[in-house]
Amino acid sequence: MSNITVNGKTYSTGQQDPAMPLLWFLRDILHMTGTKFGCGMGLCGACTVHLNGDAVRACLLPLSAAAGGKITTIEGLSAAGDHPLQQAWAEHKVPQCGYCQAGQIMNAAALLSRNASPTDAEIDAAMAGNICRCGTYPRIKAAITSAAK
Ligand code: FES
Repeated sequence: MSNITVNGKTYSTGQQDPAMPLLWFLRDILHMTGTKFGCGMGLCGACTVHLNGDAVRACLLPLSAAAGGKITTIEGLSAAGDHPLQQAWAEHKVPQCGYCQAGQIMNAAALLSRNASPTDAEIDAAMAGNICRCGTYPRIKAAITSAAK
């Protein structure tokens, strides 16, 4: 039997196909729908979560690869939606449609956890793989910059 820890709570994955993408497990089994399905091919970043603190794409990660790991989703990033990035997102009114924003925040949180004061170029490089159809990139960057201060 395999276990996975999601937002501090441990779940059995033993009944599931080990090839099931983590995103399916989060959304369809655990009903944590904050993590979004965008492309399903690792191209957009909408499904970004943390595995042991690193940003990963849940649409590509099979449950077997996540087994034993600690997953954090947008629901578990902070106790009350008050992570500095979530506060900065609100202050800068970042979202437009909002669909990609959980993935954006999770990727940005992984960046700040390994580099508390990223340069503009480091933010651009870290966030380049997270696509926003509404083009909120300038506000995303402003929010990350302000949260990093
Ligand atoms: Fe996973 Fe697009 S849904 S990268």
